[in-house]
Amino acid sequence: MISIAPGISYYPGYWNAAEQAALVAELRVVLKLAPLFTPTMPKTGKPFSVRMTNCGMLGWVSDREGYRYQEHHPLTGEPWPSIPLMVREAWEKIADYPHDPEACLINYYGPQAKMGLHQDRDEQDFEAPIVSFSLGDTAIFRIGGTERGGKTTSLKLHSGDALVFGGPARLVYHGIDRILAGTSTLLGREGRVNLTLRRVNKP
Ligand code: SIN
Ligand code: FE2
Repeated sequence: MISIAPGISYYPGYWNAAEQAALVAELRVVLKLAPLFTPTMPKTGKPFSVRMTNCGMLGWVSDREGYRYQEHHPLTGEPWPSIPLMVREAWEKIADYPHDPEACLINYYGPQAKMGLHQDRDEQDFEAPIVSFSLGDTAIFRIGGTERGGKTTSLKLHSGDALVFGGPARLVYHGIDRILAGTSTLLGREGRVNLTLRRVNKP
């Protein structure tokens, strides 16, 4: 584990190759039940460049009505599938938080996708950290401080890496500058999958 700043822990190669393949197999089942959808920006309705879905009791969605957590997939109306066991176990190991995650956002980045700098602040409970896992192509991740417009640094997130931000870093700005297409063969196609685990409600 590498401590990048107070509250930010980076685990390069958290999952080995066999574990990454097992996780991809689990995610294929999740994606069958809860297909990727294209979220849109609040108010403008402009589509995100990432596609997303969720697993867990709650899922994060965005559309013209705004950002929120909800219990159902916006297109199928079905409850989200459960979070794969290996992912819940990884949260138990590295979140340093005594309650289960409620939401696991699954982002799929094609080669051209990116995500602007933002804070994760739609949760009621900022005591729990954000735990994120990367699979597939390498991403240039950008991370700053808790104020918009502050200094930022970039970090390459590779397939199998985990990143935890909590405590004083729970509300840091972060985003994805770009995907380095073709840097991994894990997914059998270009692109990157990111899993972001969150506790939404106070326990
Ligand atoms: C996110 O902030 O929702 C995703 C970050 C990432 O893709 O690593
Ligand atoms: Fe985020």
